[in-house]
Amino acid sequence: MKKMIIHGGKRLSGSVTIGGAKNSTVALIPAAILADTPVKFDMVPDILDVHNLMLILKSMNVHSGFADGVLKIDPTEIIEAPMPSQSIKSLRASYYFMGALLGRFGRATVAFPGGDNIGPRPIDQHIKAFKALGAEVVENNGTVHITTSGDGLHGARIFLDLVSVGATINTILAAVKAQGATVIENAAKEPEIIDIATFLNNMGAHIRGAGTDVIRIEGVSTLKATNVHTIIPDRIEAGTFLSLAAAMGDGIRIKNIIPEHLESFTAKLIEMGVQLQINEDEAYVAKSDDLNAIQVKTMPFPGFATDLQQPITPLLLRAMGSSVIVDTIYPQRVKHISQLQKMGAKVRSENDMIIVEHTNTLNGATVGAGEIRAGASLMIAALMADGETQILNADNILRGYGSIVAKLTALNADVTIEDTAEIAE
Ligand code: EPU
Repeated sequence: MKKMIIHGGKRLSGSVTIGGAKNSTVALIPAAILADTPVKFDMVPDILDVHNLMLILKSMNVHSGFADGVLKIDPTEIIEAPMPSQSIKSLRASYYFMGALLGRFGRATVAFPGGDNIGPRPIDQHIKAFKALGAEVVENNGTVHITTSGDGLHGARIFLDLVSVGATINTILAAVKAQGATVIENAAKEPEIIDIATFLNNMGAHIRGAGTDVIRIEGVSTLKATNVHTIIPDRIEAGTFLSLAAAMGDGIRIKNIIPEHLESFTAKLIEMGVQLQINEDEAYVAKSDDLNAIQVKTMPFPGFATDLQQPITPLLLRAMGSSVIVDTIYPQRVKHISQLQKMGAKVRSENDMIIVEHTNTLNGATVGAGEIRAGASLMIAALMADGETQILNADNILRGYGSIVAKLTALNADVTIEDTAEIAE
């Protein structure tokens, strides 16, 4: 296990460059096995999830190599084989192998995914879509067995009961090589979905409407990569740095962003009174004082992202008055609250609401990163706090934030990562 040690209270300045989107990357890697050629991705973040997905690929005889942000994957000698359960359970996105293997072989056997513990995360909509496409799905002993008979998968009209990023992408992966036309209604509109569709379309897929709530897919028989796919910037990493820049920055430039992907978040920062200048592909946050309390409600894109609910919480401690967060996507995503309290934060969760009161000073403490965005929240609080904070289970931070120590150090933060036997309770 790792722990992150931060000596807080230092003002931060300089610039940081945002990496490729984790939640695109973790879908693009499984999507790569649909190709009949080697594929290449650029702007791949160096995060633990990528290394775990590479281990899963290896178990299927899919060779991959990762250096300098470029990930090469050769699925041309893929075989059907049991997947390493530890890697499967290490990340939620391993469920994309269900759709991808189904698209490739017409069948898939995948253990139930693990990933962040942020409350109930069913996959009933994924399964409903696979069934609509003609697959038979049986779950036993924590494993999902998906099979097809006869002429394999065929296109279908699928209305998702709720807006789900994972179910939308998994349906695309299964349908892209199915026979005939598939229509996904009530589809999720997240930018990561457009990224996956762009990658597949550049290989010859026929996916229209990604980024809207109706996606139409005409099945094709083969997918061939002819160019390098550059992954979109990570809007959640960008939001995390915007938050810490507003909380502790004396002028921080955040480069490689797509401002349109961050509008619901930057609108809230502006409402708070954060000194924010947004340019074409970067933002500059000047020293920001006298912040106002705000109300936040998380929603599917283009609403305020649930993944940024925790990273904005430490910033809200600096606002005058009482802020309220309602996470409609994951109401139980509150792993940061008890840990922030250990640091002296006046924050509490009550009736599915998070209430954040103005807090003059935070103090260093030993805390635990219960999951990735809870970890991001603690990391920002630790940068704001007086004294030393030790964040246990920091592996959860490394799951989603590439080169995080180098990026924070370049902003003048005092941060190190160490191996430890200590685990947060
Ligand atoms: N849901 C169902 N049934 C399903 C699928 C989802 O009830 O079959 C519910 C979920 O329980 C949740 C809501 O629908 O209440 C939305 O879930 P969604 O399927 O959109 O989430 P996901 O695909 O499992 C992705 C991201 C999460 C992010 C959510 C919401 C990946 C790998 N994960 O999860 O990212 O919070 O979308 O935007 O893309 C993170 O990066 O920290 C993270 C947890």
